[in-house]
Amino acid sequence: MKIEGKEYRTIWFENNTVKIIDQTKLPHQFIIKDLKTVKDSINAIKKMEVRGAPLIGATAAYGLVLSILENNDQSFLKKSADNLINSRPTAINLKWAVDRMMKKLSGVNSDKILDIAINEAKEICEEDIRFCENIGLNGLKIIEEIYKKKNSAVNILTHCNAGWLATINWGTATSPIYHAHKKGIPVHVWVDETRPRNQGANLTSYELNEEEVSNTIIADNTGGILMQRGEVDMCIVGTDRTLSTGDVANKIGTYLKALAAHDNNVPFYVALPSSTIDWDIKDFKYIPIEERNSEELSHVEGLDENNNVKKVLIYPKKSKSMNLAFDITPAKYITGLITEKGICDASKDGLGKLFK
Ligand code: MRU
Repeated sequence: MKIEGKEYRTIWFENNTVKIIDQTKLPHQFIIKDLKTVKDSINAIKKMEVRGAPLIGATAAYGLVLSILENNDQSFLKKSADNLINSRPTAINLKWAVDRMMKKLSGVNSDKILDIAINEAKEICEEDIRFCENIGLNGLKIIEEIYKKKNSAVNILTHCNAGWLATINWGTATSPIYHAHKKGIPVHVWVDETRPRNQGANLTSYELNEEEVSNTIIADNTGGILMQRGEVDMCIVGTDRTLSTGDVANKIGTYLKALAAHDNNVPFYVALPSSTIDWDIKDFKYIPIEERNSEELSHVEGLDENNNVKKVLIYPKKSKSMNLAFDITPAKYITGLITEKGICDASKDGLGKLFK
């Protein structure tokens, strides 16, 4: 997708270096950062310079390429794989991508290992783009239906950033929106700010602006009254891990939005590529929920009057705070899962029909 009219992907490989857009600097600064070692990749994931389930999977895949470039040794590679998997706990794409890479790389002792790794990491990215594009085409049908009935702009609420910045291109939740926009269907997006890291305000609104999609940032608590007033036609969110039961882990606050949608008969969709499905865990209580540094809550960052980025404390100095990064939306509150293979019920049967 575009930034200042130029096409970008979120990650690419050039001259033995991985290039990323440093998302901790957006929207105020656009900085392309080089990752040269596996440690750089792990730090980029931990510090959320890259974030979003599919993108951290791709960064981990390229992290293994960098590991081979640094030291072509199987025990170093295995250690790199373990460290990458442990860099963030909730998004299953991380483990999915590392396992997929290691299937190709384990036990390969020839010089060919580097080419094998580069090709597989590239294919993980290409596949994600194809899958996100298909999610868009499948989700577009729902937006078209609403537009046919309504004949005026379709209002879509989204939470966090499940946009192209969270994937390689297109995004998951945003892909149907971009496809509708490109087809000339008027859409307007309610962008949840998504405290504490503000991925909605800083990333979703930013990327929608760059693609000229109409959007309005709202505080996280505003969605409920907008739904009561009939100003939300549908919700689409992303996910970091979807169980075979249809239960969904996503950015903190998603659950409350689903409850409000349920109470107001607003359709609530979750968009995901199959790399985000966890086929092993059967009970959502076992999904590891990331708890991040409470400084993300107590401090905010923004531009000061001289256009310098500044971080300030907004809480009483003595107060404690708690920063859980994800929550679980039970399947019963989800109208449907929009995947690369089609739309299905958020249930074992629904997913089973699409992914045998
Ligand atoms: O903590 P983040 O910014 O990595 O969380 C991102 C989300 O929760 C997204 O909704 C999810 O990863 C889906 S991305 C297509």
